Amino acid sequence: MSFHEDLSLRVEKVNKLLESVMKVDTGLSEYLMEAMRYSVYGTGKRLRPILMEASAELFRGDAPELPYFMAAIELIHSYSLVHDDMPCIDNDEYRRGRKTTHAVYGETTALLAGDGLLNFAYETAAAAFNDTKDPVKTANALKILARKAGIFGMVGGQAVDVHCEKNNDPLTQEKLLYIHENKTAALIEAAMMIGAVLGGASQTDVKKMEEAASAIGIAFQIRDDILDVVGTFEELGKPIGSDADNDKDTYVTLFGFDKAKEDVQMYSDKALSIIESFGGDKEFLLKLVESLISRNK
Ligand code: IPE
Ligand code: IPE
Ligand code: MG
Ligand code: MG
Ligand code: MG
Repeated sequence: MSFHEDLSLRVEKVNKLLESVMKVDTGLSEYLMEAMRYSVYGTGKRLRPILMEASAELFRGDAPELPYFMAAIELIHSYSLVHDDMPCIDNDEYRRGRKTTHAVYGETTALLAGDGLLNFAYETAAAAFNDTKDPVKTANALKILARKAGIFGMVGGQAVDVHCEKNNDPLTQEKLLYIHENKTAALIEAAMMIGAVLGGASQTDVKKMEEAASAIGIAFQIRDDILDVVGTFEELGKPIGSDADNDKDTYVTLFGFDKAKEDVQMYSDKALSIIESFGGDKEFLLKLVESLISRNK
């Protein structure tokens, strides 16, 4: 099977998983569940759950807890996008090839859909306890998810990102790295660390996985900053020039294109060499990380 066939099958599998998890009857708040489903479905790349499963495959890929956490991380990622797009943050009208949640359902429902998705994510992850033979391992995975999604991770990064932008606080290299590391790399770290933990990796290997994921996440956000300038709406499914419209400093405005491209390569090489050092079935993960270097969507 080619890498691209493998990737499409994995995307399809995550899409089915999300559909089955979100097929619940919520009674009077069904209108909110509809907005939550709208926010999750669409052309998302499903990168985080796919990275989670591929990381588990370096150890034992068939952990029964995996699907619960794969769904949970995509629910959290999707909520972060709903809130990121709202007028008070990035004010964007398109996401995943269609109107953003607030553009379709209004701001109040978008805010609540984000809240709903965040809590639904933890409920989904916690259901792994019904299916596990190793509650301590499952609790460790849950701890990683909670830490990396919150103030010590994605939310912390988003806070510094908007704080700098709205206060016209000029970005330093140090601050930009903090933002990229937290707003984007933290959820990728959570994905890959949880994959490793559920696959039965040692603490040393989980730590190595965190380093690889951090490099992947930083490279991913630098590439996102590049694509905000040179990408196309058709491929990305979100507006080009959103950062410029917000007068936002990014990796590109701070360092220029050439250095941004070089650094995507540099961080990705770092991740690739860490992944190379693992045993196990790592072919797909290596190809996936390589494919992200020059991604256009
Ligand atoms: C978008 O993430 C937000 C960033 C961290 C740059 P993705 O590029 O993974 O978005 P989807 O899930 O494919 O829509
Ligand atoms: C957002 O970064 C990262 C999140 C935590 C949502 P961006 O604001 O650059 O993401 P896009 O470009 O809107 O996808
Ligand atoms: Mg943003
Ligand atoms: Mg944005
Ligand atoms: Mg962006």
